[in-house]
Amino acid sequence: MIKLDLSHAKLNESPSVWKDKVAELDAALVNKTCAGSDFTGWMTWAQDYDKEEFARILTTAKKIQDNSDVLVVCGIGGSYLGPRACIEMVNGLYPMNQKVEVIYTGNTFSSTYINQVMEYIKDKRVTVNVISKSGTTTETAIAFRILKQFMEDKYGDEAKDRIIATTDRARGTLKALADKEGYETFVIPDDIGGRFSGITPVGLLPIAVAGISIEDVLKGLGDGMKEYGSANIDENPSYQYAVARRILQNQGYDVEMFVEYEPQMQKVAEWWKQLFGESEGKDGLGILPDSAVFSTDLHSLGQFIQDGKKVLFETNLYVDQPPVDFPFPSDKENLDNMNYLAGKSIDWVNKMAAQGTLDAHENTGGVPNIVLTMPGMTAYDFGNMCAFFFKAIAMTTLLNGSNPFNQPGVEVYKKNMFKLLGKE
Ligand code: PA5
Repeated sequence: MIKLDLSHAKLNESPSVWKDKVAELDAALVNKTCAGSDFTGWMTWAQDYDKEEFARILTTAKKIQDNSDVLVVCGIGGSYLGPRACIEMVNGLYPMNQKVEVIYTGNTFSSTYINQVMEYIKDKRVTVNVISKSGTTTETAIAFRILKQFMEDKYGDEAKDRIIATTDRARGTLKALADKEGYETFVIPDDIGGRFSGITPVGLLPIAVAGISIEDVLKGLGDGMKEYGSANIDENPSYQYAVARRILQNQGYDVEMFVEYEPQMQKVAEWWKQLFGESEGKDGLGILPDSAVFSTDLHSLGQFIQDGKKVLFETNLYVDQPPVDFPFPSDKENLDNMNYLAGKSIDWVNKMAAQGTLDAHENTGGVPNIVLTMPGMTAYDFGNMCAFFFKAIAMTTLLNGSNPFNQPGVEVYKKNMFKLLGKE
């Protein structure tokens, strides 16, 4: 369970004051009477997921582990950030024990990047998982056409057994193409939007291929939905966080810096930015989601946070028990003068850096700090964290009077781009 500490947040009122409003909006969310309630399937997904499909995901993942060196995930936004966040958080950036490498394309128009992916996979045993709910996303469609031709050239008839489509149950170009070609397909549920879909087959297949327990992801999600399930704000840390954000924005803070101390959680921050930015940034409202990995970014952004314009508050996501820790070695000669740390654990140093930074930013810099602590970096923790942030973003956006589950703003650039590209 994620723990919340608001004692450094400089709130000028207690979140409890918002109790009645929160209870009212929670009822609207649970009873599906809130704006966008057609897209709240994530709330009961941990129980309601299709068990037959789940078994098929496990079988398919095993097959890929046996016959492939690389899984190419072809998707963008909600159709790739969830699995990438989970895989990197749990397995790390240079995983030693992952049977199949997972790499990503379909998330850019960069010819250089797309070409580099194709060069990288050309002599490897490859499976492709193309992921798109609409089936028409241009970044994904461009990369997939190139991948499809590559797979057909490389594997002939066998290509169809090495391409898997995760898409809408019945509609869309990708579904029609997959049916025609005879690809295995998995379903993105109608009632779960892109940025909430990492817990569905969108995430579950790549995560399982990476050797991570998807049973644990769903267990963490289900437990989280209970732990952050109370309508009473005093018993619900997710809702306290949701309200604290609103209070801080009322106090003039329009930017939230999401801070982590684990480099392998950087994609969790990207996932969080999409979840929060796309859900809340509408109707001329919202807090701009930004992120940093400390202590790395203390050497770049630290100056601004400490002494710059007071536009932001920080939300720190600490990890209580990282999967690995070890002592700093002693050195007989001590030429680097580092022996004062000999025998101390590296994670202890990381935690002291976090404590010192919190104190500097809060007390000298005057920056409000919210502190969240997750127990570890396991598959279970990932699922549980999803529940925490899903509930929080739904509540904090409803408090603005906006629909948390649509994204009308992302269509505008597409219209302009299609015109320039000459799309009918
Ligand atoms: O949250 C969203 O809706 C978006 O980020 C989508 O996930 C993204 O645009 C990809 O869409 P699709 O899955 O239709 O290809």
